[in-house]
Amino acid sequence: MNIVMTGGTSGIGFAALKHFLKQGYQVTVLARTPDKLTIKDDKLTVIKADLNSIKSIKEAIGIIKSTHDQIDVLLNNAGVWSFEFSESEDGIEEIFQVNVLAPILITRELVPLLKKASFPKVITTSSGLHQGKINFDDLEFRKSFSSFKAYRQSKLCEIVWTRYMSKKEPDVFWATQHPGVVNTALARTGGFFTKLFFRLFGKSPEKGAQTLIYLTEESIDNLQTGEYYKNKKKAKTDTLASYDLRAAPKIIQAVDKMINEKS
Ligand SMILES: NC(=O)c1ccc[n+]([C@@H]2O[C@H](COP(=O)([O-])OP(=O)(O)OC[C@H]3O[C@@H](n4cnc5c(N)ncnc54)[C@H](OP(=O)(O)O)[C@@H]3O)[C@@H](O)[C@H]2O)c1
Repeated sequence: MNIVMTGGTSGIGFAALKHFLKQGYQVTVLARTPDKLTIKDDKLTVIKADLNSIKSIKEAIGIIKSTHDQIDVLLNNAGVWSFEFSESEDGIEEIFQVNVLAPILITRELVPLLKKASFPKVITTSSGLHQGKINFDDLEFRKSFSSFKAYRQSKLCEIVWTRYMSKKEPDVFWATQHPGVVNTALARTGGFFTKLFFRLFGKSPEKGAQTLIYLTEESIDNLQTGEYYKNKKKAKTDTLASYDLRAAPKIIQAVDKMINEKS
């Protein structure tokens, strides 16, 4: 199996990566800090990609296109939860860029390589925190920043986009997944109590990686495309907004506008 993944350097993604390598899969990790991956394995390739930079994402995509004939599974797992307003290298609010713009851009560019595989999959790590609405008037929460709302919105966008893509590209299997509360570095910019919450209530990254691993390995005959999974099972999402596919073209349009303006 040939896997391309983001977010393989820490937490849930790192736990999944160790499993994949043990199984003998070929894994390419797009990482902002390639040196963090000190594992030595012939099956592992690390490509520098800072999702906070459209230029860096495009360079990494170029490398993948020139080195891969096909991709079986794309895992959009990288994510941030910035507790203060912060901008990417492109001047875009960081949560929106890393959690929404980057997976949309990477996936779109890699769909042709995915379609060369027999049973291609795109699996995106969303979250149980996806309530609320998509703030189309101010997607980057510039008027009034709420890290909670910005994070929830980004995870809602991933769910709606995935459902929409499953209809648009039916030759590819699409899913989002919720790993549960996991003790990782996700809340690194949060306060003492936020970090304590993840430490006290979070499961281990190895446990948190189980649904991601399940979706990667399970036959698509036993899975339902476009759906949201948790605990290795298809699950309902919490709000009507998470089923409203009319939002998806608007998200994609907003992302394209940002990419065009910054390129
Ligand atoms: N932890 C939870 O309770 C929880 C719950 C629901 C959903 N999630 C989701 O699970 C996913 C994985 O998060 P985690 O909990 O494992 O947190 P984590 O330990 O912080 O891992 C996040 C991963 O994303 C990468 N990343 C962040 N910004 C990046 C950038 N600009 N460019 C490239 N890579 C970048 C990180 O790279 P570095 O190693 O370089 O930092 C790391 O590999 C995220 O999508 C998160 O939203 C987590």
